[in-house]
Amino acid sequence: MKKLVVHQASSVQGTITVPGDKSISHRSVMLGSLAYGTTTVENFLTSADCVSTMNIFKAMGVQIKQIGTRLEITGRGINSLQPPKKTLNAGNSGTTSRIILGLLAGQPFTCRLTGDQYLRRRPMKRVVVPLTKMGARISGPDGASLLPLKIEGQKLKGVTYQLPVASAQVKSSLLLAGLFAEGKTTVIEPTPTRDHTERMFSSFDIPYKETKLAITVKGPIKPFKARRIKVPGDISSAAFFIVAALITPNSKLVIKNVGVNPTRTGLLDALREMGGKITVYPLKTRYGAEPIADIIVESSQLKAITLNDEAIVPRMIDEFPIFAVAATQAKGTTVVKKAADLKVKESDRILMMAVTLKKMGANIEPTEDGWIIKGPTPLKGSKFSSGGDHRIAMSIAVAALIAQGSSTILDTENINTSFPNFEKLLKQVAEK
Ligand code: S3P
Repeated sequence: MKKLVVHQASSVQGTITVPGDKSISHRSVMLGSLAYGTTTVENFLTSADCVSTMNIFKAMGVQIKQIGTRLEITGRGINSLQPPKKTLNAGNSGTTSRIILGLLAGQPFTCRLTGDQYLRRRPMKRVVVPLTKMGARISGPDGASLLPLKIEGQKLKGVTYQLPVASAQVKSSLLLAGLFAEGKTTVIEPTPTRDHTERMFSSFDIPYKETKLAITVKGPIKPFKARRIKVPGDISSAAFFIVAALITPNSKLVIKNVGVNPTRTGLLDALREMGGKITVYPLKTRYGAEPIADIIVESSQLKAITLNDEAIVPRMIDEFPIFAVAATQAKGTTVVKKAADLKVKESDRILMMAVTLKKMGANIEPTEDGWIIKGPTPLKGSKFSSGGDHRIAMSIAVAALIAQGSSTILDTENINTSFPNFEKLLKQVAEK
């Protein structure tokens, strides 16, 4: 079992870039595989989750060549996917499994989809229910609410579906199903979620209509051509280094070429409201349809805030664990509400962060849908478990930079699902 040892740091310094965005990398493979011709993807995230997506499309006959972080995906058009010979495996990737279910539901073949022991515990009903309304035939354990699932491809029909939970994965799954369905598929969101699927539709010239909360595609869509895609740095990976520089004394860190799509920048808004010295320099060049920026962060004395607005939750959904670390160093009582979906991520993140930060000496209480965190409190190093969750492992590693002594984080293999060079970058910027 892999472990990570992190020592207390005197400062965090330097200039870094973080690997490509995970959400955009997944989508580049999915749409590139359906396009006609060779799509090139630069700065692709070569993490385990995105490799799972690649392998699934390879198993359906798509030619994908990987040269470092560059991909060449040779698709043969919208109707070219082949029945896989084996069960498709999404590994640990919720995004792969949920979005791909939408795509598989409308294919002219039957296949099976599974995942690792953690993914097999995560809810699939949120996609299976609306896909079934579109005519999908999906079966599996507990009324098709868990993997492994059998997908018997059907001719789908478009529906209008109001999402009960704000989820970009569910939205994207239905939009991909909608590309193959007869008629209009409209997804209505309770509050906007990351819109990378829609932006990638624009890059590939796939028509769709959008109002503030409703996105419509009309299927079956016409064939579309391959494109060149460049993936921005992942703001969800940058988040760990942003908080590291904010909470470690005497720090200044520059993070270059980070994706700053407004549906993803909730953490920056929250930390700035807390007094975090974060400067965002938008760059003129965009990476395709996605805006990028350089971000400069300096150590800051943070003050507590209350996050009780459901609109910010999807805009920082993956950043709550590292936000909790920042909140332990903020003066006053930080309250997080309306973030109950954190319980069904790669682990129960509300519980995992509460247990871990408490062990470090923080004053944190889990609630039904968030935390109450009183700060600032000094932290101390110890031995921790990641609970099999990459973002928990990396959040503990950042907290360990300001914890007295050294910290050992067990079971850190999972960091490779989203941020393969995390440990190397952390060692590079953390001064002894
Ligand atoms: C993602 C959407 C989010 C996020 C996940 C990636 C995506 O999940 O947590 O890491 O790429 O669409 P939900 O849609 O379940 O909120």
